[in-house]
Amino acid sequence: MPKLLIVDDERGSRESLRLIFSRDYSVLLAASAAEALELLAQEPVDLVLLDVILPGQSGIEVLRQIHATFPGLPVIMVSASASIPPVVEAIRLGAFDFVSKPFDIESLRHAVRRALETGRLHRQVEVLETELSRAFPTQAIVGGSPAFVAALDQLRKAAATDATVLIQGDSGTGKELAARLLHAESPRRAEPFVAVHCAALSEHLMESELFGHEKGAFTSADRQKPGRFDLAGSGTLFFDEVAEMSLATQVKLLRVVQEREFMRVGGTRVVRTRARIVSATARDLRREVADGRFRDDLFYRLGVVPVRLPPLRERRDDIPRLVEHFLAQLAPTLHAVTRSVDPAALARLCAYDWPGNVRELRNVVERALVLHGREPVLTAAALPEEFQSALPAAVAAPLVTTGAGTLDAAVAACERRLIEGALCQAAGVQTRAAEILGTTRRILKYKMEKLGIGDGATLPSQPPP
Ligand SMILES: Nc1ncnc2c1ncn2[C@@H]1O[C@H](COP(=O)(O)OP(=O)(O)OP(=O)(O)O)[C@@H](O)[C@H]1O
Ligand SMILES: [Mg+2]
Repeated sequence: MPKLLIVDDERGSRESLRLIFSRDYSVLLAASAAEALELLAQEPVDLVLLDVILPGQSGIEVLRQIHATFPGLPVIMVSASASIPPVVEAIRLGAFDFVSKPFDIESLRHAVRRALETGRLHRQVEVLETELSRAFPTQAIVGGSPAFVAALDQLRKAAATDATVLIQGDSGTGKELAARLLHAESPRRAEPFVAVHCAALSEHLMESELFGHEKGAFTSADRQKPGRFDLAGSGTLFFDEVAEMSLATQVKLLRVVQEREFMRVGGTRVVRTRARIVSATARDLRREVADGRFRDDLFYRLGVVPVRLPPLRERRDDIPRLVEHFLAQLAPTLHAVTRSVDPAALARLCAYDWPGNVRELRNVVERALVLHGREPVLTAAALPEEFQSALPAAVAAPLVTTGAGTLDAAVAACERRLIEGALCQAAGVQTRAAEILGTTRRILKYKMEKLGIGDGATLPSQPPP
């Protein structure tokens, strides 16, 4: 039986509404706004019938609160007068319908049936959206090199817990993608993922963005506004470029992380939060702490699980599968027919140092598809200027890399570059890479294991069934 909550301060109208509905629905009664909000917090309700005029707090204000806390819960406003301003305000705030007293019982029943049906559809859409995003993850995260797989493992383990996670990695290494993966694989996946770009917000705006503000908090605050913490609910709140956060905001964030509660700007009421906090930065946060630009207590609180995403030049064996992934991902939307890369082009892609990491690689593939998308195979000619003269890493690299102190280390570093270069050229096919190196697949495999070079796989951002 669907559950209705009837909120009216007049005993008489409460009772008559109860009589009308108690046959078909289970009915809860509240005589005040406070009572209504308390009941709502205790048990799920399918529909609220809300009197516009209540003692203390107006019905409109209650409507606002209900919408903030229970989005999608239909509310029918009930009023003794059909005066226009509250009707307009109520509808604008998302009330489902507006009924005036004295009631026409049939049309009231009808409004309730329609509202319940809408609420049901709303919930169904939510469920379907979640199912859909699980069945078709929007973004796969690709990578098979040991360092990358290790980072993904840490993310997956952390996903199941409530621990704060700090993702560090150079620009374009996939930090935001990793944060979304973490959310998608956490038990909070059906709740919102809300990102805060710390570099994009001025210090003044930051506080009200994060915590929201009460009506009248400052001159232009003509109504209460929810902050990102409210929006995240019990989902994930992602602080991107967290090193850019001012010291003043850091103090406030520290308090939320410690106490799990905050106050809106201009407010006195303490609001609890259940959001899980994930942050990312391209900077060395430890260094920021040492230089006094980041609070050390916050650093430790945010980074209970630290995860480092390696730069692309440290996992060159991922280049072929990333190229393949971006070809498959981008070609259809760009109406390109290109489906593969020729070995010479791949060798050049593998030799490059990728200061912009995966984002830069994606841009290079996208550009090639835009300019040369009519060709079925991507050739070196489709690559930008800087790739035209580059030789494969294995050939171009100086044999003794700097920093490799002992002969053994130098040999290992050299072997690694040659093997990675060959794997790259061979698009990861080991037999072919062994041929390039003039050795057998068995020896290649042995060396790869010894040097910790992975053989890779594509990891969809989909939780295991
Ligand atoms: N492992 C990966 N597999 C597939 N796509 C990836 C991978 N890593 C990054 N990308 C893609 O590369 C682009 C950059 O990734 P993202 O925005 O997550 O990087 P970032 O580390 O947040 O970068 P920045 O520091 O510049 O903000 C995105 O389009 C993302 O989808
Ligand atoms: Mg980013």
